[in-house]
Amino acid sequence: MPVILAIESSCDETSAAVCADGNILSNIIANQTIHEAYGGVVPELASRVHQQNIVPAVQQALLNAKVSKNDIDAVAFTRGPGLLGSLLVGVSFAKAFALAKNIPLIEVNHMQAHVLAHFIGDNKPAFPFLCLTVSGGHTQIVLVKDYFDMEIIGQTLDDAAGEAMDKTSKILGLPYPGGPLIDRHARNGNPDAYKFPEPQIPGFDFSFSGLKTSILYFIRDNVAANPNFIEENINDICASVEKRIATILLNKLRKAAEQYGITDIALAGGVSANTGLRQGLQQLGEKLGWRTFIPKMEYCTDNAAMIAIAGYHKYLKGEFIGQDVAPLARMPF
Ligand code: KG4
Ligand code: ZN
Repeated sequence: MPVILAIESSCDETSAAVCADGNILSNIIANQTIHEAYGGVVPELASRVHQQNIVPAVQQALLNAKVSKNDIDAVAFTRGPGLLGSLLVGVSFAKAFALAKNIPLIEVNHMQAHVLAHFIGDNKPAFPFLCLTVSGGHTQIVLVKDYFDMEIIGQTLDDAAGEAMDKTSKILGLPYPGGPLIDRHARNGNPDAYKFPEPQIPGFDFSFSGLKTSILYFIRDNVAANPNFIEENINDICASVEKRIATILLNKLRKAAEQYGITDIALAGGVSANTGLRQGLQQLGEKLGWRTFIPKMEYCTDNAAMIAIAGYHKYLKGEFIGQDVAPLARMPF
């Protein structure tokens, strides 16, 4: 019954989790609020705050799991992709812990871990399944053939879906990160109030930069005619933008599911916390006879529980990494 300590520090969340035999015992997430003032994550600040948060996060994770440092059998950590300075903090901590306790190290790919978050708990998809992974930095349709046998069959050619959410919110004068705020306003708005264009990209790839430009011009023109346009219509604007982003994502997902003949369909990454996208997937799934899988909220955004579950499955395969490992800002599957 391996007990694994997992560390996640790829962006602006410092997270530590403990899992025993594949069951998550604790999952501590320390959010960094310092970036709000800058309208986006400042890498230099993120790594400094990780440095402050990492030890308290691990101590709390051990405490909540009711295990001691001596009970840990292996340390799993995010090697990449992510911000190099942020990754360095987690990787260095994991290496030092493993060295001190003379236990193995397990490297985890952050994007694979988002997909593997579906193996936390009892409601698991069956291989092969499709996973739409949507975060602040990535938008991917992943064909998941096995735990670590994944193929990206579609991805964004420019901005990620979360970036489109965050940039829209910036245009609207909302603070960072804007995704959750767009979600909140959208709940009280009319999703059909305004029509934004759907990009025509071949295959299963995405593009969000044209949408961002059209939103920018739409707001600029309307504010020129009515300076109060945003505050009078914020709910409708957010609902319409959210609907367009969700339909762009779901239309491609549907196309991929049909082409590959797959009916187990999953959602992962920070944007999978979005209410409109979750409801849209559920409705589409009911219509098309899919089994749909949406992670619990705490496993949607960045968290170490997903690193722990990925680490557990690597532990079972005996896949360990040496102490000379270094983080990778870009890390392909
Ligand atoms: O996976 P994640 O926590 O970090 C990255 O690896 O990027 O994703 C963060 C992204 C941000 O762009 C944030 O605005 C978006 O997820 N997000 C949401 C919601 N919650 C987080 N977007 C829309 N609706 C939400 N409820
Ligand atoms: Zn992520």
